[in-house]
Amino acid sequence: MTEIMKAIMERRAVKRFDPAHRIADADLRAILDAGMHAPTAFNIQHWRFCVVRDPAQRARIAEVAWNQPQITECSALIVLCADFKAWKGGAARYWAGTPQAMYDKYAAMIPGFYEGHEHLQRDEGVRSCGMAAYAIMLAAAAHGLQSCPMDGFDFAQVGKVINLPEHHEVVMFVAIGKGAASPPPRGPRLAFEDVVVENSFH
Ligand SMILES: Cc1cc2nc3c(=O)[nH]c(=O)nc-3n(C[C@H](O)[C@H](O)[C@H](O)COP(=O)(O)O)c2cc1C
Repeated sequence: MTEIMKAIMERRAVKRFDPAHRIADADLRAILDAGMHAPTAFNIQHWRFCVVRDPAQRARIAEVAWNQPQITECSALIVLCADFKAWKGGAARYWAGTPQAMYDKYAAMIPGFYEGHEHLQRDEGVRSCGMAAYAIMLAAAAHGLQSCPMDGFDFAQVGKVINLPEHHEVVMFVAIGKGAASPPPRGPRLAFEDVVVENSFH
């Protein structure tokens, strides 16, 4: 099995982290940078990562997240947020430096695709954060760390704690650190046939 397959197949959502473990700034940056290399529609990169390392801020978040221990014990708590209006940044922000024809194509397509489609704008931000979250989790594994994706929290309250700007929403957390206990038994995956259909649903 290649290392990437091993990381995918052996990853677990870790429930307890070693609170004494510190993540090096360079490692954290490399992990976040991996998240920023995930794909996004039109390269819009809707994600914004609020990295919470301050213990007081962690405690405030834990309070509105059922006091789940990962929040205070992990080495870095990443609150992934989506900027639903990121598409308004246009080609100038996302395609600068590319050949003119390519730039012009995206400059025309981006507003046409998103303007007036609030639902799509929101979905797109959530999709982007999901892609980034998984890249972050696999990059954490590459650095010998474990992770837990999380959405067991009060979204509005977390937004207040982190001072979420207008047009942004909290999508999920990824807690990363040194796992301190074996995760609980893994839930079974659905049967292949229950998930994969060929050509259409019958
Ligand atoms: C979007 C999302 C939200 C989750 N929220 C939580 C959470 O709040 N707390 C928690 O302990 N685990 C959380 N999990 C972890 C899941 O429980 C876990 O991924 C699932 O049971 C499968 O286990 P595995 O990841 O170890 O294979 C979440 C996972 C995802 C993808």
